Amino acid sequence: MTNQEIAEALEELLQLDTDAVLAYDRALGALGEGTVPHQLATFKLDHQRHVVELSQVLLRMNREPPELKPDVKGTLLGGMTGLRARLGTQQALEAMRSNEQLTTSTYARALARPFPPDVLEVVRRGSADEQRHLAWIERALDERLWELDRGAGI
Ligand SMILES: [Fe+2]
Repeated sequence: MTNQEIAEALEELLQLDTDAVLAYDRALGALGEGTVPHQLATFKLDHQRHVVELSQVLLRMNREPPELKPDVKGTLLGGMTGLRARLGTQQALEAMRSNEQLTTSTYARALARPFPPDVLEVVRRGSADEQRHLAWIERALDERLWELDRGAGI
């Protein structure tokens, strides 16, 4: 891969991670306390870490990381997530499941590209986080984890 191709691929992931942080912000802003929001807050931190790590790789390549703002898709994604989250934890999780399906498949595609080993390592860690996020959200929906909090009087 040329440096240009590597940089463009990393910038695509950076944009997606930035949008994911926004979507988690919106979801968390609409949810109260509990097991699910607590876990989602850690996923938001993972996405923030991806933004830092991908930016560091770009800087090592002497590329200025782009000044990222949520793109139109990101704003829609974040807005929709916020709207759905106000309807409750299940709706929030369903919105985040679609978001995580997108990040998981984008990272999986990136992982198949011939990055240099140090870049591949960062992408591999990010991809593992995405799989873990999606698996947790799917399990939370299957097991209706938010009902346990309600049962505990939270
Ligand atoms: Fe994620």
